[in-house]
Amino acid sequence: MGVMPGDAIMKPVFSKMLEERLKTVIVGRVVYHYENVPSTNDVAHRLGREGVPEGAVIIAGSQSEGRGRGGKAWFSPSDVNLYCSVVLRPELPPQDVPLLTLISSVVLVDTLESYGVKGGIKWPNDILVDGRKVAGVLTEASTTGGRVDFLVLGFGVNVNATRALLDSGLGGDAKGATSLVEILGREVDLVEFAASLLTRLEEWYLAFLREGRRIIVAAWNDRSIMAGRRVEVQEATGAVVGKVLGIDAEGHLVVEPLPGKTHRVISGDVRLIS
Ligand code: BTN
Repeated sequence: MGVMPGDAIMKPVFSKMLEERLKTVIVGRVVYHYENVPSTNDVAHRLGREGVPEGAVIIAGSQSEGRGRGGKAWFSPSDVNLYCSVVLRPELPPQDVPLLTLISSVVLVDTLESYGVKGGIKWPNDILVDGRKVAGVLTEASTTGGRVDFLVLGFGVNVNATRALLDSGLGGDAKGATSLVEILGREVDLVEFAASLLTRLEEWYLAFLREGRRIIVAAWNDRSIMAGRRVEVQEATGAVVGKVLGIDAEGHLVVEPLPGKTHRVISGDVRLIS
């Protein structure tokens, strides 16, 4: 396996503790933990191409080039938050890849709930608590000739970043962000949080493979804060304003710009108006 920046300072203790805690059969059977990498998603792509088994997990203490959706940077300070990517190898047509983003969002909400925190999903993948973002997912597919070779699910969760750290790192965006430590008023063990998230990921992934998209769409709708809200969607082709009807079987957002008229959003930035 090729050498990457960060390989020399892998933290075997974290990987071992996490592997020991996991009772999973696919997700997290192999865990790579790095002190710092540019982006765990990039490491996952490299390892995915090199043939790591399905379920391989890549975690970093910090990221120097953490990526969010839409080319945005993801604030990734050292040793306080979770930066975690998972390689999956489902037999899936490329158009179904967004379903894995939906699964990941459901997993994040359920993991928060296990800490007594009520989160909701803002389409497609922002996890909000009282209107502030606590976590997000960046799903990326590696494809050849129209086939999905593997997927990378990249989870970013503000776990122990304090208000002061969010303010200093995020500037003007800090007011729209929060963290578990801010919500709970106590620190959360990162190994325990990662184990909880990865266990739920495996449960939902296996349920999806067994039962198909229907259960995922239903679970997502249950946890979403979107239905009935008025939104403004910025798409590559322009802006659309309307009421959210829900998501369709492919995971696209369905908006009603005018009564009786529907518009499907495949990708775009959503602003909640009401
Ligand atoms: C978003 O809400 O915009 C998605 C954020 C995803 C961030 C995570 S952190 C781990 C993984 N590595 C990255 O570079 N990005 C994802």
